[in-house]
Amino acid sequence: MQHFSSRLLNWYNKNKRTLPWRGHRNEYAVWVSEIMLQQTRVETVIPYFKKWMKLFPNVRALAKASEREVLNVWEGLGYYSRARNFHKAAKIVIEKYGGKLPNDVVELRKLPGIGRYTAGALASILFGMDEPALDGNLKRVYARLLDVKMPINSADGEKLLWKIAYENLPKGKAADFNQALMDLGARICVPKNPRCGVCPIARDCEAKKRGVQHLRPVKVAKKIVPHYVHAAAVVVERIGNSLYVLLAKRPARGLLAGMWEFPNARVEGESVGEAASALRAAYRLNVRMKRGLNPLATVEHTYSHFKVTVNAFRCELSKAAMGENLKWIRLKDLGKYPMGKVDRAIARKLKSDSHF
Ligand code: ADE
Repeated sequence: MQHFSSRLLNWYNKNKRTLPWRGHRNEYAVWVSEIMLQQTRVETVIPYFKKWMKLFPNVRALAKASEREVLNVWEGLGYYSRARNFHKAAKIVIEKYGGKLPNDVVELRKLPGIGRYTAGALASILFGMDEPALDGNLKRVYARLLDVKMPINSADGEKLLWKIAYENLPKGKAADFNQALMDLGARICVPKNPRCGVCPIARDCEAKKRGVQHLRPVKVAKKIVPHYVHAAAVVVERIGNSLYVLLAKRPARGLLAGMWEFPNARVEGESVGEAASALRAAYRLNVRMKRGLNPLATVEHTYSHFKVTVNAFRCELSKAAMGENLKWIRLKDLGKYPMGKVDRAIARKLKSDSHF
């Protein structure tokens, strides 16, 4: 029997998705797309991609932008270290490679934000190199196609899948082949209820033959994610003719690095006193909650490793002194400060709240 790749490539030729970064040789556009598509679906990425290309149309424009501008455009897409790393990589590509990506997998992987998957995607799509690009879609497709019983999110499973991906790569066709598998995974070999009836390679599928496609891929159980409660302080003051609000800049490393938020701290209970002392400890910020216990907003969000509920309270400063990472910004400038989803929701609520 012919290798499944010819059936897959035929299907791809007729059915490939029209995507804004496909079909032209703009190296930078493909790079943007591959960074945005890490852990994020095509439908979510498209509007961000278009906006990004308008504001930073080439690697030089990106390298010249400020971190705040970059994070602002990325806002809402999540996993913000991708934006920060991409920005760093753009500067390196300008300085070290004269503005062009190196056509070498080892060199590509030295750039911030380019791991094994992205290096493979860029090498195959841009340079036609025989490299697989094993993302979540490809792992699922191969786990079914070859009925892999090892958990795909284990180190051994991952190793096996890379080996499989190398072995099955049709020489000279990696660009289309990788993207064909991505499209197949996104549209047909979907996680729940795979559409085997319309799959171009159903006859090649070991899991389907054994009727276990619903049981593949195998995954090791995720840890239960902890759920935290935070209290956030919304402090608005009139200074001269303008209203100002107090924001905190997050540290340069870790979750939401370098982004802005309302000063907040983890609490165990619902007491206002506990919230105030937690904020004092975290920011040297002395506040009194206004209007009893009613929060201005309550926002929930799930990150990859934990879930958080943030209760945002209107507060008054009880002492002017405060820590260095806090900044008064004009209320009307809130949109210019990049924030995660939780704080953007609080900011919106604050703007729409008639009390200010
Ligand atoms: N996901 C990541 N890269 C992709 C691409 N080039 N096409 C479709 N889906 C993708």
